[in-house]
Amino acid sequence: MSLLEIVLFPDERLRRVATDVTQFDARLARVTEQMLTTMYESRGVGLAATQVDVQQRLFVADCADDGQSPAPLVFINPLILDRQGLIESEEGCLSIPDVNDKVMRAETVSVRAQTIHGTEFELTTSGLLAICIQHEIDHLNGKLFIDYLSPLKQQRIRKKLEKVQRQKALDAKDFV
Ligand code: NI
Repeated sequence: MSLLEIVLFPDERLRRVATDVTQFDARLARVTEQMLTTMYESRGVGLAATQVDVQQRLFVADCADDGQSPAPLVFINPLILDRQGLIESEEGCLSIPDVNDKVMRAETVSVRAQTIHGTEFELTTSGLLAICIQHEIDHLNGKLFIDYLSPLKQQRIRKKLEKVQRQKALDAKDFV
């Protein structure tokens, strides 16, 4: 199974607002499978389609503890129906490597989504999965967790990652 390339901040493609999935077909199943593989290979707990330059409303997640058996979840056209409480926790993102910071989120969320076959389901959850759901739905709306940080912190992160990407581009050139 081929890995998908993860779009890295500050790439503007991360700012696009994804559109609803309308075709529940083999292509959707394949993209979802590839996203799960990419997420596991990258050791992430969630991955939104926007992050692999698929501008459709879906994300995958697996918030099982280390040592537990895998619990892959797929959310198509997810919608948060209800939020309860507030909790601060440390977040990171596969599109923003080596950056972690504290973000305030709802502690419990109720979400409605569809399976890859188009069947609707509802889920109420808290803990890591609730945070993950909010983080991934933000991606589908072109929003990143660092948007919640102070402007100064955001500027530092942007500079740091632009530098990393310039270096990467130079390194790639050397191989040509
Ligand atoms: Ni992310």
